[in-house]
Amino acid sequence: MPEFYIGLMSGTSLDGIDAVIADFSAPNLQLAAHSHQPFAPAVREELAALNHSGRDELRRAAIAANEITRCYAASVNSLLAQASLTAADIRAIGCHGQTVRHQPADGYTLQLINGSLLAELTGATVICDFRNRDIAAGGEGAPLVPAFHHAMFTRAGEHRAIVNIGGIANVTDLPGSDAVTGFDCGPGNLLLDAWTQRHLKQPFDRDGEWAQSGVQIPGLLARLVADEFFRLSPPKSTGREHFNLTLLEQHLHGDEKPADVQATLLALSARTIADAIVRYCKGVTTIYLCGGGARNVGLVSLLTSLLAPRQVRLTDALGVNVDHVEALAFAWLARQTLNSQPGNLPAVTGARGERILGAIYRP
Ligand SMILES: Nc1ncnc2c1ncn2[C@@H]1O[C@H](COP(=O)(O)OP(=O)(O)OP(=O)(O)O)[C@@H](O)[C@H]1O
Ligand SMILES: [Mg+2]
Repeated sequence: MPEFYIGLMSGTSLDGIDAVIADFSAPNLQLAAHSHQPFAPAVREELAALNHSGRDELRRAAIAANEITRCYAASVNSLLAQASLTAADIRAIGCHGQTVRHQPADGYTLQLINGSLLAELTGATVICDFRNRDIAAGGEGAPLVPAFHHAMFTRAGEHRAIVNIGGIANVTDLPGSDAVTGFDCGPGNLLLDAWTQRHLKQPFDRDGEWAQSGVQIPGLLARLVADEFFRLSPPKSTGREHFNLTLLEQHLHGDEKPADVQATLLALSARTIADAIVRYCKGVTTIYLCGGGARNVGLVSLLTSLLAPRQVRLTDALGVNVDHVEALAFAWLARQTLNSQPGNLPAVTGARGERILGAIYRP
């Protein structure tokens, strides 16, 4: 008897929606369908704008939540058609929503999504708002993917780490036992994308080619690496509130060549990911990369040299395409919730205990 769940992820990169249908009854978890639907430029711009306070933002946030929910529903309906399934075949949809604020220290995180509307538009059970329960229990509400990384990728006798390189990068340490840890380690693609959008008017620096045409600026790299976030011990999480162009501009003199700044931003992501692994994943032998940043050839080659003699591979080598890991994690988290099982790892988020995450909207 198949056990289908849908996972929908749209992360801090604001690139679009990754969607999967997974059958959890199959050994090794089978994907029935997957898709990536880019956001229309106007949607991306409004979501980026809503990351900061602005005029009439409550109304605009509600409208944007409905708009993005219609995009999620379109992804769901195209997945169902692809897999020749109907909503009745799906146990639940796990939908992350679009983060526009993440302030665990102030007791909240905000993901735009209208769960009621998604249930109406798809006719399926929808689970969303995964992060706030962990924050209510004293945690960071992030990262949530380590529990899934553990369920999916832990191998007894082998010390692995998983690095998801989304807008923000996060590390999961899998020592081969239940002693799993994880945390956000800083910028993944966020600053690289923002600088590329400003100077090349393209969404991202494909394969890190532009970065590789420039030369790292050691002084700039040193000022960026000195950022207080990198000195904090886990549990920790971060987002666009902190790592954005305003922060970068504070460290620029103004006469740098844009390609050299891009080279420096690439080095910043690689350096801070590698430092986090060396410091907090002691004894790791193989590091598996996932998320869109794993497609950045320049970033992967820098990481490979910084982390040698440890092996750096992609999660594809473990049977999961790098673009599907995060969406699969939210399908898995939905399944946990529907089965009244916890989704957070207190050792990762700092919550007082395990919690069943999210809110359930019935069809
Ligand atoms: N070929 C490529 N070369 C360079 N960068 C790429 C390539 N393909 C994807 N990317 C990067 O990956 C990003 C999208 O990654 P992803 O969807 O994993 O991030 P996300 O949506 O922020 O997710 P999250 O923050 O939740 O992990 C793009 O914005 C881009 O920066
Ligand atoms: Mg994405």
